[in-house]
Amino acid sequence: MPHATEPVFQHIQVKQLAPTFGAEVTGIDFSKPVEPEVFKEIHDAITEYGVLVFRRAALDDARHVAFSRLFGELDDVKPYLGLGRQNRFPFDELFDVSNLEDDGSLVQVGSKRDHVSKGNSLFHVDSAFNPRRAGYSLLRAHELPPPGYGGNTDFADTRTAYDELPPDLKAKLSEMDYVGANSLWHSRKKACPDSEFLRDMDPEAYPFGRHRILQLHEPSGRTNLYIANHLHHLEYLDGTRVAEPEGTELIETLLNHASQPKYLLSVDWREPGDLICWDNTAVMHRAGEFKGMGKYKRDMRRTTVHDGSSSAWGLNDHTLERMGLP
Ligand code: OGA
Ligand code: MN
Repeated sequence: MPHATEPVFQHIQVKQLAPTFGAEVTGIDFSKPVEPEVFKEIHDAITEYGVLVFRRAALDDARHVAFSRLFGELDDVKPYLGLGRQNRFPFDELFDVSNLEDDGSLVQVGSKRDHVSKGNSLFHVDSAFNPRRAGYSLLRAHELPPPGYGGNTDFADTRTAYDELPPDLKAKLSEMDYVGANSLWHSRKKACPDSEFLRDMDPEAYPFGRHRILQLHEPSGRTNLYIANHLHHLEYLDGTRVAEPEGTELIETLLNHASQPKYLLSVDWREPGDLICWDNTAVMHRAGEFKGMGKYKRDMRRTTVHDGSSSAWGLNDHTLERMGLP
């Protein structure tokens, strides 16, 4: 595909994981602050590969947050605490992506948290539903289930998926310049349509995060298909909605196209300390099937870096509200 030649590295070793994207990176000592010249290579690598896997990175919570700050300004969990959640961690910048309740006990199968967390099993990009979307996410395994219970994290290469769209669809997207209206509630309902906890939830009662479907990925100069299962409907640039069922059919066509096996990379979590960093403006991700729910701890912790590109806010007002929460 016509993109920049692969970068050359002096401080890190990079092994590509899938034909078009993803790489495992070695050679970094995470027990001390990462030096600027090393970070520059990490940044070049994530620009090229979209997903970076660091095995046994040995970061603790504080160093995880400190390393993440090198990528940009960090999002925090404060608005979500208003929903009655408590943070298990002493850092507001650490998102709890575990299968644990706030008191550290296992989330029970069939509970509200179980139903709500199923949204992560659909391909998505983090924070597309917020006024300011996420750029990078850094997910770290603190405690893992025994092997054999699944729980991989899967990725889809949405830049290559764009490159390889059928020419007529590519031309239509470029001509219409659709805007996607993203909702976290929508993806949760889509993943768990029969949930009694989500049945009465109306995504329309909350603000949508509006972002264009076709995006320039500024660091690489490539075009990205900025899609996710958060997409509730499509709009034209003047704000009118694309008629149904056309809008939803187009959303599903794009999601199905980008989730073909040739665009996917599935990463297994092997040991505590494993860290995966991805660029939400270049790839989608999902939690793969996990067979140990209610049985084994899967204690995953994530930092979320606000997008620093010129399309970070999409068509949204510049407010700090997230999902309509102050
Ligand atoms: C996330 C996420 C998937 C997983 O942390 O944003 O979607 O495998 N995680 O836990
Ligand atoms: Mn996610």
